[in-house]
Amino acid sequence: MSDHDERLIDPKTTEAEAVFELSLRPKSLDEFIGQPKVKENLKIFLEAAKGRKEPCEHVLLYGPPGLGKTTLAHVIGNEMGAHIRVTSGPALERVGDLAAILTNLEDGDVLFIDEIHRMNRSIEEVLYPAMEDYALDIVIGKGPTARTLRLDLRRFTLIGATTRMSLLSAPLRDRFGAIYHLDFYGVDEMTDIVRRSAGLLNIPVENETARIIASRSRRTPRVANRLLRRSRDYAQVRADGTLNPEVVNLALQALAIDSRGLDEADRCILRAMIEKFSGGPVGLSTLAASTAEDESTLEEVIEPFLLQEGLIDRTPRGRTATDQAYRHLGFEPPLRQTPLI
Ligand SMILES: Nc1ncnc2c1ncn2[C@@H]1O[C@H](COP(=O)(O)OP(=O)(O)OP(=O)(O)O)[C@@H](O)[C@H]1O
Ligand SMILES: [Mg+2]
Repeated sequence: MSDHDERLIDPKTTEAEAVFELSLRPKSLDEFIGQPKVKENLKIFLEAAKGRKEPCEHVLLYGPPGLGKTTLAHVIGNEMGAHIRVTSGPALERVGDLAAILTNLEDGDVLFIDEIHRMNRSIEEVLYPAMEDYALDIVIGKGPTARTLRLDLRRFTLIGATTRMSLLSAPLRDRFGAIYHLDFYGVDEMTDIVRRSAGLLNIPVENETARIIASRSRRTPRVANRLLRRSRDYAQVRADGTLNPEVVNLALQALAIDSRGLDEADRCILRAMIEKFSGGPVGLSTLAASTAEDESTLEEVIEPFLLQEGLIDRTPRGRTATDQAYRHLGFEPPLRQTPLI
């Protein structure tokens, strides 16, 4: 895809969108829709820490982009009544960057590190004693005369977020007291999210309209919020400004989003699997190269959704297109041999 700005599934957010997202972000656990298991566990976890009057243990949040990791990190901070310092793996370039942040934390503060899998290994090692013993080891001097000086840190809570759990080193992963996986949302939950966002944006929507947006948003709140905004624009420019099923369907059509919420990039991947690789199995990097798709977008955004929708399967030899995928794109599924057992 050449036009990245127009892509609804693009995990990256523009600056204008960041402001928009901020205004729609739930602030408390009660406002946070869906993810019932995560919420229930978190409630107990936070309650227990509050009861002990201690900062809560370090938390790791993982899952595909746009499902609410950053939102949840802020919710945890709010629920604990803590100050939140925000940084990210790629922003921490030198050990000193992290040391400066750590030494400035107050008791009970939350340090949120987004994209924690992209942190440099030497910086990561500074985190180990900080997470375990609230201590910072500083090396003074070089060679045989080098000494380590240990500085005490305040009792803080680290919250890490990642879309790529597999890239996290085991020592780092093991230092988190709680690990929560955010999963794709159900259509009912997505409908509630659309209704909530529409309410905050003062856009009147009927249930049916909210449901159409919800069911075609890749089960991802960020995409739903984008679709809502695009549909509103469409209604304003091409119709009388009211959002109804007809206008939403036209907006979705203009954005080339199909009945299952797939966009052109998703279909391009499925089509390549079917037409160029006879349905697979095919490896991700081969698939990326043959479609000019960015490999990390394919792995982090496109694949998890297609897997979740049952349109592709993962096998030890690569990905395969399912019969559903064939039918969805208008192809006849191949005759498959039933294994002789
Ligand atoms: N459970 C939810 N209820 C309501 N809105 C939500 C929920 N989860 C996410 N959102 C909305 O979706 C938007 C994107 O969420 P968020 O930025 O937290 O995703 P993320 O998982 O951090 O994504 P990334 O991996 O790209 O950083 C937020 O602005 C928020 O409004
Ligand atoms: Mg985020």
